[in-house]
Amino acid sequence: MKVHGQPMRTIWIEPDGSSVGIIDQLRLPHVFVTARLTTLEEVAHAIRSMQIRGAPLIGAAAAYGVCLALRKDASDGALEQACEVLMATRPTAVNLRWALEEMRRTLRPLPPSERVAAAYQRAAALCDEDVAINHGIGTHGLPLLQAAWERKGKQGRLNVLTHCNAGWLATVDWGTALAPIYLAHEAGIPVHVWVDETRPRNQGASLTAWELGQHGVPHTVIADNLGGHLMQHAEVDLCIVGTDRTTARGDVANKIGTYLKALAAKDNDVPFYVALPSPTIDWTLEDGVRDIPIEQRDGAELTDISGRLPSGDVVTVRVTPPGSPAANYGFDVTPARLVTALITERGVCAASPEGLRSLFPERARGTET
Ligand code: MRU
Repeated sequence: MKVHGQPMRTIWIEPDGSSVGIIDQLRLPHVFVTARLTTLEEVAHAIRSMQIRGAPLIGAAAAYGVCLALRKDASDGALEQACEVLMATRPTAVNLRWALEEMRRTLRPLPPSERVAAAYQRAAALCDEDVAINHGIGTHGLPLLQAAWERKGKQGRLNVLTHCNAGWLATVDWGTALAPIYLAHEAGIPVHVWVDETRPRNQGASLTAWELGQHGVPHTVIADNLGGHLMQHAEVDLCIVGTDRTTARGDVANKIGTYLKALAAKDNDVPFYVALPSPTIDWTLEDGVRDIPIEQRDGAELTDISGRLPSGDVVTVRVTPPGSPAANYGFDVTPARLVTALITERGVCAASPEGLRSLFPERARGTET
């Protein structure tokens, strides 16, 4: 996708051939800066602090974290230790586990002397796969938007509501939930996106709004609480969100607040789609509400808010009284029954065990990894 008109990805290898370049997402939307990561610890910190975030990008970054660790020490012990450090950074997005398992599977059988080169190769391949997967989600999701536009009699604009940031900033490129939106925009459908601000960290207001703006996609930032009202007044034609972990029966973990949007969508007969890259499926779990680990983060993300002053300075201010405790759950789970369909790189399916297994038949029972 493009930044200031120039195509780029969210993660890359720097010209020195080993360090990892990223867009520092903590500085957006006020400043566009990149950062260079040179050690495992820097990658782990970038994931924890959310300089890089979004399930697929977390997985890609973890793969490069392994590369950087192996440059220092390519032994079995160092490989295991690196995977352990990275696994502990964020608990909900299963892409992290998936990417680390892919790296382990590739690297363990090799002698240490061959591991560094193989690690960089596999990490680069994971990134390319992510781009292809997301583009696939875009092409399979586009007909859903086209159908909605036709149902509307091609009148006015096609209003899509999204939550958090499941755009290209959350992936290596394209995004998941935003991929069909970008393709619809390119195809000439007058798509307009309602962007949930997504408290407490405001990934919608700061990241989704920024990237849609970079691509000229019409959008409006809304308070998280507005979606239900808009749906009651026929101002939302469909919802598309991303996911951090979807179980084998189609329960969907995504950024906190997603569940409430799905409830409102159900009550108002608004289609609620989830864009789902296959590495985000956790085939080992069924009941998402019970079993998906939900990240809890520092309450300061809720009590404090940062923004830009007219002077250009970015400052953080407190919005709650001193002494009021805050609970900061990062994700919630939307049960499969509230999901109209899952949009994957292999096609669109029902959010059900049968639906998922029809697209991923190789995942027959007993072969879960
Ligand atoms: O806490 P974040 O910003 O990493 O959460 C991101 C989301 O919830 C996204 O919707 C999800 O990772 C899907 S990204 C394609």
